[in-house]
Amino acid sequence: MATPMVLVTGGAGFIGSNIVDGLLADGGYRVRVLDNFATGRRENLTHCLGDIEVIEGDIRDLETVEEAVSSVDMVLHQAALPSVPRSVKAPVTTNEVNVGGTLKLLSAAHKSGVRRVVLASSSSVYGDGEQLPKHEGITPNPTSPYAVSKLACEHYTKVFADIYGMETLAIRYFNVFGPRQDPTSQYSGVIAKFMTAALDDKPFTVHGDGTQARDFTFVENVVRANLLALKVDRLDGSAINVACGDRITLLDVIETLGTLTGRTSEIIFAESRVGDVRYSQAAIERALDVLGYHPSVSFEEGLRRTLEWYAVNRPDRRGL
Ligand SMILES: NC(=O)c1ccc[n+]([C@@H]2O[C@H](COP(=O)([O-])OP(=O)(O)OC[C@H]3O[C@@H](n4cnc5c(N)ncnc54)[C@H](O)[C@@H]3O)[C@@H](O)[C@H]2O)c1
Repeated sequence: MATPMVLVTGGAGFIGSNIVDGLLADGGYRVRVLDNFATGRRENLTHCLGDIEVIEGDIRDLETVEEAVSSVDMVLHQAALPSVPRSVKAPVTTNEVNVGGTLKLLSAAHKSGVRRVVLASSSSVYGDGEQLPKHEGITPNPTSPYAVSKLACEHYTKVFADIYGMETLAIRYFNVFGPRQDPTSQYSGVIAKFMTAALDDKPFTVHGDGTQARDFTFVENVVRANLLALKVDRLDGSAINVACGDRITLLDVIETLGTLTGRTSEIIFAESRVGDVRYSQAAIERALDVLGYHPSVSFEEGLRRTLEWYAVNRPDRRGL
């Protein structure tokens, strides 16, 4: 049997490039990336350019997407504008890339005979309900344009499974962190920003009082879930959480970083951000049922590995 071809959309991004590495390490796949480098970086793929095919193009362009899915067996769809605050500022563009792009991808994939599409969805679809942990039986209640866009994508992946018989799955990531997460943008994830602050002994900026909690998930756990989704016998269009099942506050993150670096930095408290949820923690039993997933890297170990990577790579100093 020919080696299956996997398309990673958004493969130059933080999670996408880690998935590419996971696929290459597995050894059982040919890998193609589609990315327009809107938020992803070429440097994230430099080390493996000889082993993958890269199509530079926009997920909103149907012709490009049709080219990208040709001869592909399975898609791990990461491309998106992945930020709540960005979506509050630019809801139309967020919708065009996230929802319009996903629909074009699904449609082209169906036409081209792609067997399986796995969507990167988000815990943000749950919104700010009190119930914790968030389990997949809770009715989603998005509180930002970004969350709406991810929920719409989930519905499309389900409909493509139900109507066209495509094998699809939506994986709801919960605050992923790790090597290659970009700390430089105003839209960067909080741990990426804390990393550079900790290494430079600069103050940590915390929006709100710091007691807001997240189920911070080291990227390797998310990579494993995606690889499992390529291997399981069947996918039925459902949505599942992938996380660690923990509730960690921003103040906990700062404390653990202090222990790892041996330094205590000042904290600056700023306004809460519009659209941000207060508490998030995942129930991960369904991921075990559907994928056989359980988190293999703990929050503390993930933070240690991430700090090690930032200490050597300093993505915020590139281009200086
Ligand atoms: N990082 C997290 O904590 C998190 C949490 C939940 C969900 N997600 C989802 O995971 C996926 C990956 O996120 P990430 O954190 O790696 O972000 P990222 O910004 O590093 O990756 C997104 C990638 O998509 C590409 N992209 C954006 N617009 C595009 C377009 N129009 N055409 C082609 N490519 C385009 C970017 O260049 C980038 O490489 C996203 O779908 C995001 O919504 C991430």
